[in-house]
Amino acid sequence: MELPPVGLGTMGIDDPESVATALALGYRHLDTARIYDNEAVVGEGLAAGLAGDAGVGDAVDATENLDRADVTVATKLWIDDLAADAVAPAARESAERLGVDAIDLLYVHRPRGDYDPEATLPALDRMVDDGLVRNVGVSNFEIDDLDRAIDVLGRPPAAHQTELHPLFYKPTLLDHARKHGYPVVAYSPLAGGRVREVDAVVEVADAHGTTPEAVAIAWATAKDPVVAIPKASSEAHLRANLAAADLELTESEVAAIDGVEREEELFPE
Ligand SMILES: NC(=O)c1ccc[n+]([C@@H]2O[C@H](COP(=O)([O-])OP(=O)(O)OC[C@H]3O[C@@H](n4cnc5c(N)ncnc54)[C@H](OP(=O)(O)O)[C@@H]3O)[C@@H](O)[C@H]2O)c1
Repeated sequence: MELPPVGLGTMGIDDPESVATALALGYRHLDTARIYDNEAVVGEGLAAGLAGDAGVGDAVDATENLDRADVTVATKLWIDDLAADAVAPAARESAERLGVDAIDLLYVHRPRGDYDPEATLPALDRMVDDGLVRNVGVSNFEIDDLDRAIDVLGRPPAAHQTELHPLFYKPTLLDHARKHGYPVVAYSPLAGGRVREVDAVVEVADAHGTTPEAVAIAWATAKDPVVAIPKASSEAHLRANLAAADLELTESEVAAIDGVEREEELFPE
């Protein structure tokens, strides 16, 4: 599926205005999850954006003539909603909270708990047939999980959402996505705010007269086939993150950040 280089991560967002402002600035991909307990907040922000209720100061309001079809609304089923008979009721509740007729991208949040590829994935596919879900994605999968999912679905997932930032990512997951032709959605692309502690990122930011956050987003989205979903609440952060995809890093700058020593993931099991 086609996703813009920068979308909005919403974990921790509890004010619909942040979501509406993001839409007004031009964001077209909203990422939430049942476990974030804010699907209703995202839905409220989406409704405000579609109604053209979000002002962004003197800037052009990108919600003018915004259609529901212009926005990719993504959410995730938690691990206790992955049994074959649980996915449809859970997805219907998510859609209701989001205020949408169909969820554009519904992820398996983690291949854990009630996840059973042979049962869960066909049940998700039936929701695509029924029109409640437009695309089935996966998150926090390893190569084995991805291969199994491709076997069962008979096609690649619509997207794989995985942790990716200068302090942690797995290049083999990008190779797999390229080979099978699906996008990787980079979560926590700012390492939860920690990228400003990474010397290599700060050096590149100084050279471009920009912020470490912008560099982290540019570094992630320069990788094929990666899009990023930084979370931001203020208009200033939302605006800066969206613009960051236009920042062009040199090959040696990308290589310097690639060379940063990897740490433990922020979101292990
Ligand atoms: N699939 C999964 O298992 C999974 C796991 C974790 C996250 N995610 C998704 O990925 C999204 C992003 O990850 P994340 O929320 O962990 O963290 P993140 O996007 O790496 O970092 C967010 C933090 O950076 C700050 N920030 C944002 N833009 C900034 C800027 N331009 N300058 C300075 N600081 C800035 C934010 O502050 P303000 O809010 O004050 O702007 C917030 O404290 C989540 O919201 C969620 O949608 C998915």
